[in-house]
This record gives sequence, structure tokens and C-alpha cells, in this order.
Amino acid sequence: MAERLLRLADVAKPGRLRDPTRTVFAMCGIVGYAGPKSAVDLVVEGLRRLEYRGYDSAGVSVVADGELSVAKRAGKLVNLEKELAETPLPVSGLAIGHTRWATHGGPTDVNAHPHRSSNGRVAVVHNGIIENFAVLRAELAEAGITPVSATDTEIAAQLLGLEVAKGGDLTGALRTVCNRLEGAFTLVAVDCEQPDTVVAARRNSPLVVGLGDGENFLASDVAAFIGHTREAVELGQDQIVTITATTFEVETFTGEPATVRPYHVSWDLSAAEKGGFDWFMRKEIYEQPKAVADTLLGRQDESGALRLDELRIAPEELRAVDKIVVIACGTSFYAGMVAKYAIEHWTRVPCEVELASEFRYRDPIVGPTTLVVTISQSGETADTLMAIRHAREQKARVLAICNTNGSTIPRESDAVIYTHAGPEIGVASTKGFLTQLVACYLLALYLAQVRGTKFGDEIALLIEELEKIPAAIERQLADMDGVLQLASDFAESPSVLFLGRHVGYPVALEGALKLKELAYIHAEGFAAGELKHGPIALIEDQLPVFVVMPPPGRDLVHEKVISNIAEIRARGARTIVLAEEDDLDAVRHADVVIALPKVPTLLQPLVAIVPLQVFACELATRKGHDVDQPRNLAKSVTVE
Ligand code: AGP
Repeated sequence: MAERLLRLADVAKPGRLRDPTRTVFAMCGIVGYAGPKSAVDLVVEGLRRLEYRGYDSAGVSVVADGELSVAKRAGKLVNLEKELAETPLPVSGLAIGHTRWATHGGPTDVNAHPHRSSNGRVAVVHNGIIENFAVLRAELAEAGITPVSATDTEIAAQLLGLEVAKGGDLTGALRTVCNRLEGAFTLVAVDCEQPDTVVAARRNSPLVVGLGDGENFLASDVAAFIGHTREAVELGQDQIVTITATTFEVETFTGEPATVRPYHVSWDLSAAEKGGFDWFMRKEIYEQPKAVADTLLGRQDESGALRLDELRIAPEELRAVDKIVVIACGTSFYAGMVAKYAIEHWTRVPCEVELASEFRYRDPIVGPTTLVVTISQSGETADTLMAIRHAREQKARVLAICNTNGSTIPRESDAVIYTHAGPEIGVASTKGFLTQLVACYLLALYLAQVRGTKFGDEIALLIEELEKIPAAIERQLADMDGVLQLASDFAESPSVLFLGRHVGYPVALEGALKLKELAYIHAEGFAAGELKHGPIALIEDQLPVFVVMPPPGRDLVHEKVISNIAEIRARGARTIVLAEEDDLDAVRHADVVIALPKVPTLLQPLVAIVPLQVFACELATRKGHDVDQPRNLAKSVTVE
């Protein structure tokens, strides 16, 4: 009999207010500015907004009075700010800045960006990896140029310095250099002899233009400038942008004018703040009801039929689809695992789920009648981007489920379903995951509607069930004291297991991943039916095991999981069972029950994951970890 039944009770208390402790590795942050204000101040402010991307050094460069000036320091942004306070840079309306995640060369002052050319003409900041930098470095040596740093970025700066010295403009010079580089790069450059211009180029690494009133910005993420403008343009693959305070022009790497699509960033600065919570992650867990509701908004026409505006794949093409392949990484991959159950059950189309990093290396069978569905919160994950490029080469149609408007993956897909979770700053995905699930359900239902495998009224009923989810999650979040207590009980556990069956299996995997990436302890998710094939050997006295219980009475799986619980309890495990509110079987067999709202079987992941997110976040904060920027992790893994 469960000793404690964690039922819906009093209001949860947001986490304690704590300052972020330390910043660890993640992707680089880039900011550029051209305008009438103090460029250094705006660039440093932008770098501060990108702090969540993590870094190990930071720097800024300005052009003033025909001179380039650079300040850069290893360590936190505050080190650079101290340097600037002690030795201010010249006043200028033109600057570029960078926070670095080391790839080539350790995190030192010398290796920090911006990098300057030996002839003093240009300064460059870079995000990505230049794969042929060694060859180019040797070429520079032959020309008598010895770089001072160990970075691939400085190679680009030296090449650019040589190019502009030939007399061309900075845009043409950068185009020439980009056509010699291999790999992934966003490069942003200034030239002391072109004091009104910032030029940038991108390949496989994000860059967005902020269009202000008499000022323009460049950044790796809109968070850097949305305090100043919300009008943005996402740069496309192999494109170069030239900005001044009042103009911006985009062209291809071959010099032709490029068409770009301006968009309005609906996220304002406050949305990117913590809103009173101690961590972005905790804030984003509590934003989930709204994120789910926002993702459901506007998805039906006046007749009640599903309408996915950005889908841009004709219904007859969708009817011709004979296989669906879902491709993603990490948490997004687990969302794809849930999608498989819904897609196959509602549409009867075979659906495979693939890890993006494995997909293109296994010689997959995809073709014109394959629908590839890629899931990515950031829209910039390199593994996923490379996988869909491979799929498109095989003539498959690609549909992206993404949370970041204008990012690379949706731009390189045939169609997109945007989730509307708002900015997800915490590296560990929470609302991103939940809204991915919602988008997957919507896609499955839309396919069922187009292919006629579900009647309109059946689809409407399921939409109604989805529309109840935000309130269900609100109720759960109002009753987290018991889960917070569990985090205290298990704060010193060296290992935690997670079991699930059917759609509970991906939930178990995601629950384990949350604990791994936040608390840095061993956590593993299993299909409950696999226990007897080996993992049961892991069970020992007092080992915490979370079990995601399928809803009772709907098929045999419920009884089988009850047997699994009995097996592990008999061997001393402490069983924490997530079960529907009136699942008396679960109460009889578990040590602790976490009550879940009653929802349709396939929708259960939407509510089952919430207590596991809260548990992992709370346990990690009790261990003193930075849950927004866990060690070694990046919010967007833009390198393969
Ligand atoms: C999830 O908590 C992790 N941050 C990570 O697994 C993430 O889901 C993965 O890197 C995929 O990122 P994406 O959704 O932005 O493509």
C-alpha cells in the first residue's frame, strides 16, 4: 500500500531566488551594431542577453577615427566589462562582439574573439568550425603571416585582411574568403577603412539581423536586440549581409541579390527574463500550460476542421505518403517516439523514429513518398540539419516542427509547424518538449483528416481533449509539494531508474535524461517489459524507481506494469508510481503514488512528464547545480 498518496493539494512554492553560479560551455554568442548610440554599450548588453548560451571568453571591437580597437578577456563577461571600465574603447557607433565556446584553442585572452588581421585592417568574430583551417594556415605561413592565436577564426581574419588590402570593399572581400572556407561558420567583420559598415556571412550556423529605427543589429539570437527592435530578418544559408545604421543588403556567396523574409519577434524582453522564478528552467516548467494553449491556438477553421497554415504540402501529396520518418536528437527524439504511437494509431501510416546523428550514415531508405518529420526546439541542431539535407537529396518531403521562427531547419524544410512555447532559455528542454508533443498530435490528426482515417467528429473530440491539457497541467503544478519532497528524499541517491510502457516508455527516457543533464547522476529509462531481460539486475535495496503507469482498464499493458512494480518491490526498490488519480491498483502496489490527471491514453505524456521535470529541477538545485546552464551542455548544438 502506498505510504503517501501525493494528491492535488495547496499551491506550490516557486524555487528560492538564487544568482546563477557559473557559466559553462555552450555555443558562441555574436552581436554587431551600426547606429548613432554607443556601440560598445549595446554590443556588451547584447552579449549579456546571450549569456545563457554559455562561454569561456568574451570580446568587443570598435572602428573609430580610422582605427580598429579591440578588448577581449578570458572568463566571464564581467572580466571584459572590468577591462572596458579600466581602459575604455574609443566612442563609436560601430562595433562587433563575441562570447566564445572554445572549439580550436583553449579559453585564453589571445584566443578570445574578435581576431584582428596582421595588417590591422579588419576584426572578425565567428561561430562554428572552419574545417579546412589547417590548410589555410599553411598557406598564410607561406605568405609570411604567422597567426598569434590557435584559433580557426584568426585564419579567416588574416585572409580577410589580405583581401581588403587588395582594394575591394569588405562585402566582396568576405565573399571571396567565404568561398574558400569549409565547415560551419557565421562570420561578422568590420574594416577600419569602412567605418560605417558591418558585414556578416553565414553557413550552417545561425545569424539574424535586427532592423531598428536609424540603427541595425546583427546577432546569433534575437534575444540580443529585442530590447531595441522586434523587426528581424533571418539570414539564409550561404548568404552575406551588409549593414549600416540605415541600410541592409543581402546577397549570396556568388554575389547575386538574395531575397529574405522580415518577421516580427513577438517575444519581448520580459518574456526572456525569469519572471520572478529563481531559474529560467523553473519558469519555463510553469509556463507550460500557456505554451500548450498557445500552440493549440488557431489550428481549426470555422467548420472545426484542422488547419495547419504553414504546412505548405498539398493534401494529395500527404495522401501519397507511404512512410513517415521522424528525425531528431535528445529530448526532441523522445517527442518523436511519442509521435510514432499517435501517427500509426490515427493514420495507419508506418512511422520510424531515427536519431539524427545516426540517420544519414545508415544509408536510409527514403524517397519522394516519404514524409520526413524533423523535430527541433532551436532549429539549429547540426545533426538534425545534416540529416534533413540528406533526406532532401533523396527527394523526401521534409516537415519541421520547431520553436524558433526563421531558424535554419524550418527554412530548409518544405513545411513547418511552429510550436509557440516562447523563448526557451534553460538548456534542459521542458516547454519545448511539451509543445513538440502537441505539434506531433496536431500533425497526426491533420494526416488522419487528410487521409480520411478518422472522422471529423473523432478529430474534434481529440482536439477538445488537447484543449483540456493546460488546465490539467495547471492543477498538477499547483500540487508539487510532494514531488519537491521526493527530490529532498532522493537528493543523495547515486542512481535512479525510470520505467514505462507504450507512450510511457519515451516519458521514462525523457525523465531519465532530465535527471542526467541536471543532477549529473546515473539515471536510466527502460521499457518496463525489458526489465526481465537484464536491467532487473540493477535493482537493489532502496533504489528509487519511477514507473509511468498506463491508464487502467484500457488494455493488458496496465496489468503487466503492475507485475513489473511487484517484481522490483520484491527486490527492495522504492517505487514511485505516476498513475491516474483513481488507479487503486497502483495505490496498492506502490510505495509512493504521484496522481496524474485523467487524459486519453495517447495524450498521457503531456501530464506524466511534468512531475519528472519538477523532480529533476528541484533535485539539481538542492545539489547546488546551475540548472539553466548545466555543465558541458549547449542550448543549441550547432556543431556535429
Ligand atoms: C534536452 O533537455 C537537451 N537540451 C537536448 O537533448 C536537446 O533536446 C537536443 O540537443 C535537441 O535540441 P533541438 O530540439 O534544439 O534540436
